Amino acid sequence: MTIKAKILITDDDHLVREAVVKILQMFGYEVEAASSGEEALDLLRADFDAIILDINMPGMDGFETMAAIKEKDYGIPVLFLTGAGSMEYAVKAINLGAYDFISKPIEDLDLFNVKIHRAVEKRMYVQQERVYKEKLEIEVRNKTRELAEKNVLLEEYSNSLEVSAVNTITTLQVALEEKDQYTAGHTTRVTEYSSLIAKAMQVSSDDLAVLQRACRMHDIGKLVIDNSCIRKPGPLTDEEWQLVRKHPEIGQNIIKPLGFLGREGEIVRHHHERLDGKGYPDGISGDDICHLTRIITVADSFDAMTSKRSYKTNMSRQEGIDELRRCVGTQFDPGVVKVFAEVLSKSKQTRVEAL
Ligand SMILES: [Fe+2]
Repeated sequence: MTIKAKILITDDDHLVREAVVKILQMFGYEVEAASSGEEALDLLRADFDAIILDINMPGMDGFETMAAIKEKDYGIPVLFLTGAGSMEYAVKAINLGAYDFISKPIEDLDLFNVKIHRAVEKRMYVQQERVYKEKLEIEVRNKTRELAEKNVLLEEYSNSLEVSAVNTITTLQVALEEKDQYTAGHTTRVTEYSSLIAKAMQVSSDDLAVLQRACRMHDIGKLVIDNSCIRKPGPLTDEEWQLVRKHPEIGQNIIKPLGFLGREGEIVRHHHERLDGKGYPDGISGDDICHLTRIITVADSFDAMTSKRSYKTNMSRQEGIDELRRCVGTQFDPGVVKVFAEVLSKSKQTRVEAL
């Protein structure tokens, strides 16, 4: 069963109104009729397919009625009934947004039907376009939400992969240290010292994370150096020394496949460089040594000085600070040493005491 198109006809002249109703019904339309603009607005619903309006009516005229209809935004085409010779009305109606106009009296029924039919088609087209647009908007919203949810999952997955990779490397490094009672806890202490310095120097949270990851893997290159060489209780031979000096570069190479650790790799590579360029492996100096590397070199050296080794007794904390100060400008960054000395002196009740 086909649904009949619905037309609303409004004319204060009952003869005209009834004639138009009959013609419309003859052409198969479902019709509702109103005798004034006010009544038309009362009857107005979104399911009308076209509205026919007389212009001259008591109360609201056709133009006022059309303006009120447009405010509802149903998208229903409006056709005006204009008396013969009132072409200026017809032009005004079109300019105000009417879809078409019909001259009365209606003499050419076929032309009348064509105009109504065209308006109904226009209405259908507008409605289809609205439905399509609404569907499209819902679809785009759903897809955007799905994509955002997938992105969150992907990011979580990627973050957990990154954390796992860093944890694996740290576990290896700590395991290596734990094999030797003299180096046990070194990584934890270097990470802690570096964090204290970095926070006191107010480095950004991103930089702090990079520094902490670099600390946790800074000696991973020692994995490939024979333990007897690392633990040797006396001076190293030239050959052994050459081997030990390779661990920063090897460390960088170990983590290189993990692309997200690029900055950490640079810090690992340079954690034995000196300000005067006499460090290793590259002998870089001054500003070529980044601010985070300057922090780890101080923390790493301080822990080495103040920890017992099989071949030496450890320095006291004060002796360690004095030694750092002695090497300021040649080996260490003066600003970093100054901050570290202050942090240590203030930290009697902090966790550093327990390290
Ligand atoms: Fe090292």
